[in-house]
Amino acid sequence: MLYRAIRKLTPVGIDYQSVVFFLLDLKQRTFPLSEASRPVACHIIDSTQDQWFRILSLAYPAQQFHLRMQHDCQQCHIAIVDGNLVGYAWVTTSPCHISEINFTLPVGLGRLYIYDCFVESAYRGQGIYQSLLMTIIADYRKRRWPNQYRTACIGAEPDNTASIRGIKRAGFEEFTRARYVHVGQFSRWYGVNSLIAHMSENRPDQVVSD
Ligand SMILES: CC(C)(COP(=O)(O)OP(=O)(O)OC[C@H]1O[C@@H](n2cnc3c(N)ncnc32)[C@H](O)[C@@H]1OP(=O)(O)O)[C@@H](O)C(=O)NCCC(=O)NCCS
Repeated sequence: MLYRAIRKLTPVGIDYQSVVFFLLDLKQRTFPLSEASRPVACHIIDSTQDQWFRILSLAYPAQQFHLRMQHDCQQCHIAIVDGNLVGYAWVTTSPCHISEINFTLPVGLGRLYIYDCFVESAYRGQGIYQSLLMTIIADYRKRRWPNQYRTACIGAEPDNTASIRGIKRAGFEEFTRARYVHVGQFSRWYGVNSLIAHMSENRPDQVVSD
């Protein structure tokens, strides 16, 4: 709310946006953190044989969807209820540009970033988003090759209450609020350094000393 008010007060030419980032430690012992309120069948779309591939691809500008699907580091997880495709969430294991704050998030080895999530309006408020996120977390927690995943990250705009509640119910904890200020030629980001450190490959706790 406050950030919206600030945006309204700023003179023309000044842009101010923020995204709240949440992290989840995939190595923690207690799992799952809570029960999904609505268990949902979720799986990864497969471009070669998946019946849902065509349906979802129609929802996107064709080029964007197919470009994403070409990359092994990007996967689309979908939620199916009563035989209908009711939601999706994309996962990337390589750096991701977040247009809302014009920021490229590093996604290093063992990290994943969940983005572009959606649940059909008729199915909202039933815990489908939470289930989708929990399925993704469980999936990456199990993966051992080519590397073990340690951190999952997701972002939401501060006023997206439904998204933030679903994210928290899936076990994520708020980590930082990234702010982007853009005035003419001048751009500045606040609150991103700790996130960059966490999502990059060379985290301090990974440095090995001989
Ligand atoms: C955000 C979104 C994915 C949530 O999907 P969902 O399946 O309805 O989420 P859940 O059922 O898991 O609900 C999550 C929480 O939000 C609450 N909620 C759902 N719709 C809500 C609404 N319109 N207003 C306030 N809270 C809402 C739910 O009650 C639940 O809270 P609770 O656990 O305390 O009861 C869905 O609303 C959506 O697709 N929105 C448009 C796209 C979007 O914002 N994507 C997220 C980008 S990060």
